[in-house]
Amino acid sequence: MSHVLDAICKRRSIRSYTGEAIPQDKLDAILAAGLLSPTSQNRRPWQFYVTTDSAMLAELSRAKRAGAAFVADASAAIVVAVDEDIDTWVEDESIALAYMHLMASDLGIGSCWVQMHLRSAQDGTDTEDKVRQALELDPRQRIVGVLALGVPAQNPTAHSVKDADFDRVHYR
Ligand SMILES: Cc1cc2nc3c(=O)[nH]c(=O)nc-3n(C[C@H](O)[C@H](O)[C@H](O)COP(=O)(O)O)c2cc1C
Repeated sequence: MSHVLDAICKRRSIRSYTGEAIPQDKLDAILAAGLLSPTSQNRRPWQFYVTTDSAMLAELSRAKRAGAAFVADASAAIVVAVDEDIDTWVEDESIALAYMHLMASDLGIGSCWVQMHLRSAQDGTDTEDKVRQALELDPRQRIVGVLALGVPAQNPTAHSVKDADFDRVHYR
């Protein structure tokens, strides 16, 4: 099997972490995967914000009503931000997040995408606003999601190529 397909099968969303720090060389390789991801018109419009600060991770975990609580126990989070004038900000950020998620998995680092765009916090505040506040970002900086990272404390079953549902493929 292709080593890329093998890596794709092994990738799972990991939401439980040991609390150990992520070695800097692994964090750098994960960031490199994001920085080398394709972007519309090769604009590379993103900025990558990394935090390992437990208070900031806790703040990010509260940025939305549900599905982010585990961020408080992550060892790091990467927030990708793009100026709202870039019409492909969602696509450019999403691809960077996906590349970093796959890279992390290949390095034995657990990670999970946490949706921040089009979500709200418990108090009704827009989730993106909460993330911008936490990181002191400009209101023009848009955020589709955050990648939570840590040394895995769980080992879910890998996907299998057999799970690929070819009934969804249509040749016309
Ligand atoms: C756009 C997108 C948004 C997601 N948002 C969240 C989220 O907010 N919280 C969460 O725990 N997982 C989130 N996930 C992870 C998915 O739940 C996960 O990919 C899915 O359940 C399949 O599991 P797997 O990644 O282990 O194959 C998100 C994934 C994507 C692609």
